[in-house]
Amino acid sequence: MKRTTPVIPAEEIAKQKEYCAQLRTLNAQRPIPPKAYVDTYGCQQNEADSELLRGMLCEMGYEITDTDRGADVIVINTCAIREHAEQRVFGNVGALVHGKRKNPDQIICLCGCMAQEPHVADRLKQSYRHVDLVFGPQRLWRFPELLRRVLLRRGRVFETAPDDGAIAEGLPVRRSGRLKAWVSIMYGCNNFCSYCIVPYTRGRERSREPEIILNEIRELAAQGYRDITLLGQNVNSYGRDLEGGWDFPRLLEAAAAVPGDFLLRFMTSHPKDATERLFDVMARCEKAAPAIHLPFQSGNNRVLGAMNRRYTREQYLDKVRALRARIPGVVLTSDVIVGFPGETTEEFEDTLSLIEAVRFDALFTFLYSPRRGTPAAELPDPQTRQEKSANFDRLVEAQNRISLEKHRAYIGTAQRCLIDGAGEDPRHGLTARTPGGRLVHLDGDPALIGRFADIKITDCSTWALFGEL
Ligand code: 5AD
Ligand code: SF4
Repeated sequence: MKRTTPVIPAEEIAKQKEYCAQLRTLNAQRPIPPKAYVDTYGCQQNEADSELLRGMLCEMGYEITDTDRGADVIVINTCAIREHAEQRVFGNVGALVHGKRKNPDQIICLCGCMAQEPHVADRLKQSYRHVDLVFGPQRLWRFPELLRRVLLRRGRVFETAPDDGAIAEGLPVRRSGRLKAWVSIMYGCNNFCSYCIVPYTRGRERSREPEIILNEIRELAAQGYRDITLLGQNVNSYGRDLEGGWDFPRLLEAAAAVPGDFLLRFMTSHPKDATERLFDVMARCEKAAPAIHLPFQSGNNRVLGAMNRRYTREQYLDKVRALRARIPGVVLTSDVIVGFPGETTEEFEDTLSLIEAVRFDALFTFLYSPRRGTPAAELPDPQTRQEKSANFDRLVEAQNRISLEKHRAYIGTAQRCLIDGAGEDPRHGLTARTPGGRLVHLDGDPALIGRFADIKITDCSTWALFGEL
């Protein structure tokens, strides 16, 4: 199969494994195994990346811990999507200086999307001198080499030059869950929505080979994973850089043909590329969960144009109709931005009316946050913070009402749910997920965790369902 995306040669990956082995030998000479802590901010792709970082750290002979206290290596995997996320990272990275004073041999690493922002890298260089290693998401596969360089030379390392990215296969992974797993199917984004930093931090769209993805799914199914999420910034662009006629509906169908008792989910779908063929595959494949996250961002056509979303309100509503015609009970969730530069309250009313028209099961609502280097950050933004907040509150209030109404409709129904964990509330010892992914609290024996079971829904709140076996 010929492809246009560069693939990291196997010899390069073998070299990284060799560095792992060298560090493992060094670490084995220490009286107790050194500890490593990986802290993750942001999206599921970062969660998946952190599982690779932990996999590599294990190969290097580190024991993974869940606290920065006493860790020999700390890795902060960051998110740049909104200012708030960045402020939290700067605050938490700043606080690490105290631990480092007590243990000057500690290595502090920062990776993920923030590392790929030039002004962030500069600020870390100047003002956060206790940070030893900074590398962007496209350099993740070189982590063993970079860490080794820091350890052996004791100098600071910055690997943050712009990078379109490549595909790196064969890295070790240490998964966090036994039931739920992430499978990246592609990386990067070519859409350049005008508010979004991701195309600048995660490079160009590139797809993994279908056979490699399907093998990973086969292994996960054989290991007993029950809930597998296919990940990509826009999964609907899957395969555009591959030969052989692969696209996302075909991949989903092939994944659903893998034997085993599991459900497939995927994130995220750009509405402009969500096709009726995709909905057909979802409808026809029993393993494809009846759920889709389809971010609409705004209900107003002028704002959608300014966002460079490349669909209209009417086209979005048509897609939702086509989807529901095929999968009547489909769980539909979405993202929306309030206060995009230049958005008026009148235009915001269209967003409000869209959510009333669609009635999403759940909505992730965001206040616009200007990202340096994106076109939207240059636009005039006359609306006051108070107006934006008032609109935001109205949206949340409307959605909470809709979510509650949608949840009420579950009461009295039976749902085949995956019992996926122990609950925090002592009255409901277990948690489960409906096929559409809604959270259910119930009481029962922890031995049931990992099983699919029929659960009768007896009660609900805005955010969750309550049920019994
Ligand atoms: N400001 C606010 N929200 C944003 N998102 C992406 N960029 C921004 C921004 N600059 C939201 C979008 C996207 C979700 C992951 O984050 O709604 O779908
Ligand atoms: Fe950002 Fe748009 Fe790409 Fe999503 S599709 S990552 S919102 S640019």
